[in-house]
Amino acid sequence: MERTLSIIKPNAVLDNNIGNIIAKFESEGLRIAAAKLVHLSKEKAEGFYIEHKERPFFGELVSFMTSAPVMIMALEGEGAVDKNREIMGATNPAEAAEGTLRKLYAKSIGENAVHGSDSQASADREINYFFDKNEVLARF
Ligand code: TYD
Ligand code: MG
Repeated sequence: MERTLSIIKPNAVLDNNIGNIIAKFESEGLRIAAAKLVHLSKEKAEGFYIEHKERPFFGELVSFMTSAPVMIMALEGEGAVDKNREIMGATNPAEAAEGTLRKLYAKSIGENAVHGSDSQASADREINYFFDKNEVLARF
């Protein structure tokens, strides 16, 4: 069983779409294995997106991600990494398929409602970055 990291971003939290987004994950067979609602510090957000440090949008990305609370989750299920990316849709909502979370809930390429790990290696790093071992549900 795979795990992936999901973040419901500030725009979707402020728009009151946490429940709608979790309902979609559950209806697609993903299970919440860990969860917390937190307001990220600048340092924590920068460390999370460290791979994008040199990109022109990095400053805006960090400022957006620290503008309001985010809902951080480890999702578990068969092919969880790819399944989550499919449910999310393209990074740019203008290119996201009908019915995807970004098509439904993103405002722009920056304020795009959700994060999902892009590989199993990223997922392992990202889950460990936000959760202690004892905060993640044991396998069942
Ligand atoms: P990226 O990892 O490329 O996208 P994804 O979230 O689909 O894995 O980029 C990380 C985040 O950076 C993306 O969700 C939103 C932001 N971003 C921008 O603001 N502008 C851009 O041009 C890109 C590519 C990303
Ligand atoms: Mg990415």
